[in-house]
Amino acid sequence: MAPAPQRQLTLNLFIYPGGHHEAGWRYPGARPERLLDIGFYQDLARSAEAAKLDAVFFADSPVQADDIRFASRFRLEPLTWLSAIAAATSHIGLIGTASTTYYEPYNLARLYASLDHLSGGRAGWNIVTTAVPQASANFGLSDVPTHADRYARAAEFLDVVTKLWDSWEDDALIADAASGVFADGAKIHPIDHVGRHYRVKGPLNSPRSPQGRPVYVQAGSSDDGRSFAARYAEAIFTAHQTLPSARDFYADIKRQAKALGRNPDHVKILPGISPYIGSTQVEADRLYDAFNALVQTDYSLNQLRQITGIDFSGHPLQAEVPQDAFEAAPPAKKAASRYQLVLDIVRRERPTLRQLIDRLAGARGHYVSVGTPEKIADEIQLWFESGAADGFNVMPPWYPAGFDLFASEVVPILRRRGLFRSEYRGRTLRDHFGLPRPESLYAREARVTA
Ligand SMILES: Cc1cc2nc3c(=O)[nH]c(=O)nc-3n(C[C@H](O)[C@H](O)[C@H](O)COP(=O)(O)O)c2cc1C
Repeated sequence: MAPAPQRQLTLNLFIYPGGHHEAGWRYPGARPERLLDIGFYQDLARSAEAAKLDAVFFADSPVQADDIRFASRFRLEPLTWLSAIAAATSHIGLIGTASTTYYEPYNLARLYASLDHLSGGRAGWNIVTTAVPQASANFGLSDVPTHADRYARAAEFLDVVTKLWDSWEDDALIADAASGVFADGAKIHPIDHVGRHYRVKGPLNSPRSPQGRPVYVQAGSSDDGRSFAARYAEAIFTAHQTLPSARDFYADIKRQAKALGRNPDHVKILPGISPYIGSTQVEADRLYDAFNALVQTDYSLNQLRQITGIDFSGHPLQAEVPQDAFEAAPPAKKAASRYQLVLDIVRRERPTLRQLIDRLAGARGHYVSVGTPEKIADEIQLWFESGAADGFNVMPPWYPAGFDLFASEVVPILRRRGLFRSEYRGRTLRDHFGLPRPESLYAREARVTA
């Protein structure tokens, strides 16, 4: 594969049913009647592939969010969804979310290895520990696992899954009809894992997948989350409102990864960006306002309460948000990164309650960019070239037009500036991200002890 030209942006399409604006499903042209139609998502993925994006990404949480009345917050299981998308595409990466708290490692290892096989090496796993407390009730847990417990379990979970993905060496599969030998048993290894949380014998019951291991993606921002990301993640999703905060996060993760002996270029930092595009600034502002005019205040106040633990329903919408109200927030909320992000907005911008809920309605705390294609391309280039991002998760406020605008108006500008590919240079997600294909742990062991 030819060496990469200058440093290139990594761009993923973050697909969220109904769009990233909380009222996106209601915007003209949003096609709410197709939200359960796989064809709608196959078309979106084809559009992302035509624009040569790196991957499509699906978030997930194994619990029904309670605020479904006004927002399209349902979830189909990501890997089932991505398998259908794999069949309709050939190059676009396929990143799906699954929880280390609510899955068994053997089952999860099989699911992602299978997606990697059926897609020719395009699978990525967004590793989450599921912070939503209500999820525990769906798995017979009386106590909600603590943040620290979730991350301790996640580290062992990852160790088990990695060993399972490596349990067949790359050349274990022989499939020689003439000799009748299908596989070399000496190159298929039980993992015999015995740990605090898991006992797993292995091996995995399928050959090693095209990428060796699907790509490890993660989205932690607490101290535990960051050290977990620096140790294991090959791509890190994150949410930042400002360039300085994104730069601090970027520098911290790269520093931690380097200190662990990792190549910082193999740890991609990808903040979210939600683009509201207009041919003029006025038109873009009008678009943003049109979305916020669709906001259901009850829903937004409920969102704010879920993030902060504070009920602002009695506070006048046009009055400034009182900073001291945040003192009363529950400690568990104060520990969460999204709470800090909201408090920073309140301290920095002193918004009215209306302005604050409009801001969060846009993309749940991710960066909202409102403007002409040139302005949005400038902001992307600035973050990319000033140590704040290796690329972005693109979060259209609505589909399909919200993404089509980005693909047809912003991507060509980034391409003209030499910042984004015009052709795929490989077929796997690792090729797109510029990541090495890892050798099987067992093959390496055999090689160094030979
Ligand atoms: C872009 C992005 C996507 C995320 N997707 C999910 C998701 O699909 N499911 C989930 O449970 N959490 C998701 N999260 C939340 C993180 O997994 C994590 O819980 C959160 O960033 C808090 O970090 P912490 O775990 O370090 O406290 C996402 C976060 C970001 C920034």
